[in-house]
Amino acid sequence: MKFYIETYGCQMNIYDSEIICSILLKSGFIKTSNLKKADIILLNTCAIREKPEKKIFNRFLKIRCLKQTNKQIKIGILGCLATHYKKQTLEKINFIDLIVGPDSYNQLPKMINNLKKEQNKKEIDVSLANQEKYTKIIPIGVRTSISAFISIMRGCDNMCTFCIVPFSRGREKSRNPNSILKECKILYKKGYKEIILLGQNVDSYFFKQIKFFKLLELIAITVPLMRIRFLTSYPSNISKNLLEIVNKHSNICKHFHIPLQSGSTRILSLMRRKYTVEEFLLIIKMIKQIIPDCSISSDLMTGFCTETQEDHRETIRIMNIIKFNFSYMFKYSSRQGTYAYRKLKDDVPNILKIRRLNEILMLQKSHSFYRLKENIGKIQNVLIEGISKKDDKYYYGRNYKNDIIVFPKTKSKIGSYNRVQILNATFTTLIGERILSEI
Ligand code: 5AD
Ligand code: SF4
Repeated sequence: MKFYIETYGCQMNIYDSEIICSILLKSGFIKTSNLKKADIILLNTCAIREKPEKKIFNRFLKIRCLKQTNKQIKIGILGCLATHYKKQTLEKINFIDLIVGPDSYNQLPKMINNLKKEQNKKEIDVSLANQEKYTKIIPIGVRTSISAFISIMRGCDNMCTFCIVPFSRGREKSRNPNSILKECKILYKKGYKEIILLGQNVDSYFFKQIKFFKLLELIAITVPLMRIRFLTSYPSNISKNLLEIVNKHSNICKHFHIPLQSGSTRILSLMRRKYTVEEFLLIIKMIKQIIPDCSISSDLMTGFCTETQEDHRETIRIMNIIKFNFSYMFKYSSRQGTYAYRKLKDDVPNILKIRRLNEILMLQKSHSFYRLKENIGKIQNVLIEGISKKDDKYYYGRNYKNDIIVFPKTKSKIGSYNRVQILNATFTTLIGERILSEI
């Protein structure tokens, strides 16, 4: 039986799709990249904001048409939207046959086979677990042959008032370090060069006395020739211990993704974030003291409930102080089931949310350019990830800070580390030239 899968949302979902592929292939299913040839079409979905959700439902409406020509075809909704809307809502959508939440993918082969046995039957499992469910599954890399994701923890206990994650992905569960280390070694043997550790709050990882900084060190020592990145960090979980480990090991990237969300302490408190703006600034100071040449990125949101022009100006003020290397920026959208949806008024007009968003987008662009220019003149260790899409005479890769660098192609291979002198910067990319021999 052939399956087709599309993935929406964050890196965690991409990783989950790799797990899904692994589970289905092991059970004898065949993967197809041609939608029309599939017996079952799976959409691994994201519920975090309104915009991606609309996109996914529009996609479902298009896919539904396939059922008119082939009545045997089955359609499944997986991931966060499955748990977000629960059975009641999705059960009513007649063209959806399969509804599976992020903790139930082990059941997929059985559920799909059941669908085939009985016409007009729906299969549903949206239960959330207290333990990591996929420790024995090695995901099938579907992205690049250079860089692989590893999920080390799932879910979130923070309950920020705007966020659906604690409901769609459940409580925090950290994975056994032995299974993580095993996966790292397998990836290394397969030729991967980089590991990206994933978690909604990677730095709250905790498994039988092993904290995140310890796990990071274990990984750095176990696969010393691999680059290690991690995301996303919750600001108040960044500890001195963690920073010292990052500083100590040259194979751990000097990049922190730390969502600020808003530059107004009043708004942060309404969001139930566990830090004030002043505390956030102290965290940034501590990071820069221990690792001066690092990069810091963030998530920011405009138009959260009751946000005034003054709050927005505060966000701009803090952005100007920190000058993040880059940020993901969103306008707030109220999500059913969250505290903010139930108790706070989504009272900032959409037009204002968009105007404020555009302002921070423009500002971030200038900060990203400023941060990129800081690299000019330096010699950096660049891992080649591929051939530049804009010009096939150039390679593209990343430095240890996660900046993208292009440089004229040489005899070096994709996947090798190269010493590159940074010559120039555009708004998004560094331009360099390879020097000396391969490292
Ligand atoms: N509206 C807008 N942005 C949101 N995010 C999470 N929930 C919402 C929401 N309801 C953003 C936050 C988070 C990132 C992953 O998505 O900035 O850090
Ligand atoms: Fe959502 Fe907050 Fe948890 Fe991040 S820390 S996943 S924003 S609840």
